[in-house]
Amino acid sequence: MDAMLFDVQCIQVWGIHLVVPILLVICIQLLWHHYNLRLADPANKLPLPPGSFGLPLVGESFSFILKANFIRMKRLTLGTVYKTHLLGRPTIRVSGPDNIRKVLMNEHKLVTSHWPKAVQNLLGDGALSMMTSGTSHKNRRRLITKAFTHDALEVYTEDIIAVIREEIYKWCQDKTVKAYPSCHHLTFRLAAEILVGFRFCKEKNDELDFHFHRFVNSFFTLPINLPGFNYRKGVESRNKIHELLDSNIKDRWETDAYSVNTLQVLLDAMKDSGEELDVLGVKEAVVELMFAGYDTVGSALCSVILKLGQNPHVLEKIRDELFVHGILEPSEDVTFAMVGKLPYLNNTVKEVLRTCAPAGGGYRKVLETFELEGYQVPKDWTVIFSIRDTHEHSDTFNKDLTFEPDRWINIEDKSVAHEFIPFGSGPRTCIGRFYAQLVMKLLIIELCRSTEFTLLDKDPVIKILPVFQPKGGLPMEIKKRTVIYQNNNFNAKI
Ligand code: HEM
Ligand SMILES: *[C@@H]1O[C@H](CO)[C@@H](O)[C@H](O)[C@H]1NC(C)=O
Repeated sequence: MDAMLFDVQCIQVWGIHLVVPILLVICIQLLWHHYNLRLADPANKLPLPPGSFGLPLVGESFSFILKANFIRMKRLTLGTVYKTHLLGRPTIRVSGPDNIRKVLMNEHKLVTSHWPKAVQNLLGDGALSMMTSGTSHKNRRRLITKAFTHDALEVYTEDIIAVIREEIYKWCQDKTVKAYPSCHHLTFRLAAEILVGFRFCKEKNDELDFHFHRFVNSFFTLPINLPGFNYRKGVESRNKIHELLDSNIKDRWETDAYSVNTLQVLLDAMKDSGEELDVLGVKEAVVELMFAGYDTVGSALCSVILKLGQNPHVLEKIRDELFVHGILEPSEDVTFAMVGKLPYLNNTVKEVLRTCAPAGGGYRKVLETFELEGYQVPKDWTVIFSIRDTHEHSDTFNKDLTFEPDRWINIEDKSVAHEFIPFGSGPRTCIGRFYAQLVMKLLIIELCRSTEFTLLDKDPVIKILPVFQPKGGLPMEIKKRTVIYQNNNFNAKI
């Protein structure tokens, strides 16, 4: 009896101690919720989408970053338009073809691209992704696109193949490599050589390597320009990269040596552009291209290895296709025109980008309140368009993420313009998309004809931030291919 009385008293004492903090937490939580609700557009009668603003100040940032399944659960429970609070801003996350179309096709009208201050300063006003005025963005894109035309890609092809071969050769010598860091290294070398033209200068290449990584690592920090801060290091390295580009520009003008790379294509574009583009603009553009194409392409190349490693039947079908076109032997020349004639390879690349989209989505700032599915998307909020959610729930692809290149046989590009969006769409579609796919194709070709590889972890856990990547870096065993080719489908013809 005594013991029971004691228990009850104990609970009462503890109860009183807990009530006050609990009430306080509830109050703060309610205030946070109402504070954010008040940021809706009062002139608009539509309700806000479903969803939660998470915890005071931090919102749902940590859940998005740390919990692997959080985004997927949100999409399943809340649908294709929902509100949240991310990185200090009230945010609406959208997916699905109709919503994607409305957001991306209204760039510069309803929405505009928006980056943290540090990124704006580091990339500079000449970077495409920083340009928020419709006209200057369009004009600048017209100039930079010249570096990725059919003709330009045709010229890059030989150099790309050379770099890929050198890297693959090293992988085979090492026997066991981690695909993820190796693909990033390959991507960096391609950037240094194809975009900047540093092929024959190891010293400059190493310097660029050092400063590029220091630069990239400074992006998501506060813009505090004081010694010791990451941001200051980023600024220093950016300036150093500009100096390296300067010396490359000067070399070219002094010697008039002409080997084609993106830097030089852009310098030519500059000459014809009147006042529109100056040397600083060219340098900012090249640095942006290196940056935008680094993590993304590195991820895509690693996913190529992941998917081919998991699906040997696809690898064999690609070998069949190469054989039929007379380029299965490593000694046979591969040209840009030839790469364009391989539909199965094409479909394999699309399927990798569909099932392993490197970038999960993109950010916009709302310029003018608009409507989606009967909800308001208020002015000044952030909108995130989700690439991965859109791919995962696509009706055209039966919500199916199974890797099967042949599913593309009857799909017209136009019909999935806002359903298959690894490169975004609309006025800000990725400017490097053809270059990226060309590199993916050339890597696949070289892997198929010169190597045999086995994944050491066939079913790795996937991380999706900042880009799609297998945990553990995807270790693989790789060796030079020696088997005599046995083509089951075409033996009869030989
Ligand atoms: C598989 C590789 C790649 C993927 C998945 C990818 C993805 C994307 C996406 C989704 C966007 C749109 C962003 C938005 O709308 O907010 C974009 C834009 C952009 N990408 Fe890529 N990208 C890749 C490779 C590259 C490469 C290789 C380059 C340069 C050589 C590049 C340069 C750019 C630039 C400059 C923009 C900004 C365009 C603008 O704002 O007008 N990307 N990319
Ligand atoms: C490859 O795909 C692109 C676009 O997705 C298409 O325009 C092209 O015709 C395809 N090429 C082949 C050989 O199938």
